[in-house]
Amino acid sequence: MDKLLITGGQALSGNVAISGAKNAALPILFSTLLADDIVTLTNIPHLNDVTTTIALLGRLGADITLGDNMTVEVDPRSVNEHVAPYELVRTMRASILALGPLVAKHGKGQVSLPGGCAIGARPVNLHIHGLELMGADIVVEHGYIKADVPGGRLKGAHILMDTVSVTGTENLLMAATLADGRTVIENAAREPEVVDLANCLIAMGAKIQGVGTSKLVIDGVERLSGVNYRVQPDRIETGTFLVAAAVTRGSVTCTHTDPSLLEAVLVKLEEAGAVVETGEDWIKLDMQGCRPKAVDVTTAPYPAFPTDMQAQFTVLNAVAQGAARIKETIFENRFMHVPELSRMGADISLDGNNALVRGVETLSGAEVMATDLRASASLVIAGLVAGGETLVDRIYHIDRGYECIEDKFSMLGANIRRVK
Ligand code: UD1
Repeated sequence: MDKLLITGGQALSGNVAISGAKNAALPILFSTLLADDIVTLTNIPHLNDVTTTIALLGRLGADITLGDNMTVEVDPRSVNEHVAPYELVRTMRASILALGPLVAKHGKGQVSLPGGCAIGARPVNLHIHGLELMGADIVVEHGYIKADVPGGRLKGAHILMDTVSVTGTENLLMAATLADGRTVIENAAREPEVVDLANCLIAMGAKIQGVGTSKLVIDGVERLSGVNYRVQPDRIETGTFLVAAAVTRGSVTCTHTDPSLLEAVLVKLEEAGAVVETGEDWIKLDMQGCRPKAVDVTTAPYPAFPTDMQAQFTVLNAVAQGAARIKETIFENRFMHVPELSRMGADISLDGNNALVRGVETLSGAEVMATDLRASASLVIAGLVAGGETLVDRIYHIDRGYECIEDKFSMLGANIRRVK
């Protein structure tokens, strides 16, 4: 199993090109199942979760061509299977996003029930309930969600989501595009990835109003066509490199990104003492050699501070001047990085979903274990600032969501390499 070996201490400096957004690419790849023609997607990041999604689409019968420059062409006309099997779903919870499109397009679908994961139980009741309101008969048996639509076509429905759910909104949005009549999704997630999916669906011919708001109104159409669509930049990858720059007291410019997608993160970085400049598709962060100041953070649905940046800010606070509180409100068990950071010398007290982080002058390198995607990123950042060597184990978590992470950090002057 691969590990990352990092020798800390270098201030990061230079430019880094940001990849396409994983969490937008996945639902958009699944949305191709809805189309009646070839869909060509560009700026798809080269990541394990994308490979899993492509494998799943292939398993369902789609014809897939991988081109240069991260172009993926999906021809869904040959889809003849409706089961997303356990061996693929277990490696990626987002496989649940196959359910809405399958049920909407083919009147039936089966997706293995995703299990719990390191950051909490992560149920899918909202996905199931919404599809039931649209007329699907759903049973959960033998570990599978099995959905069937009597008559073959979903009906429009009024859906009030109990909790703001990103993939829940995406699944129901995709299902509603081909339903008979109008669907209203209230308390919808407003995350940029939902917006990107909606824009792709609109380009395919879907009728969606309220994009980017918490009320989506979808008028079902008979068919969706093929399209050529470019996936938006990854705001979380962008934020991760900016935090790494701040923590190492460096100066980094992220290119091929979009500053409007991460306002809440940029505000916190400025509060931490960073000088932040932005252009249409770039963000420059300069610490001017200074130690960051501790910043309080509370995670919440977009446009508030993203839970996917919480672990990275925990590291920032761990080496900052002062103390700060981090409150996690989205997932019940998302502080798995804290015990690992403590082993590197961080001073963090945990009380349920609150962490009190008291900044220390420096961390010390250690062997640490990645537990989930964003937690692993935080351990890499900690390694970049720590004295001595840090060995991050189980980095398959990182490879699920960060493209060529060691190459990108190396180009910024970090001493990091992959070891077997
Ligand atoms: C997505 C992102 C993930 C991010 C998260 C929150 C993808 C592939 N993943 O995950 O990176 O951390 O949004 O921004 O886009 N919930 C229920 N019932 C449901 C669904 C969710 O109770 O049916 C709860 C969850 O347990 C959680 C909260 O809703 O407490 C938000 O989860 P959700 O937005 O659904 O997360 P994901 O879509 O899985």
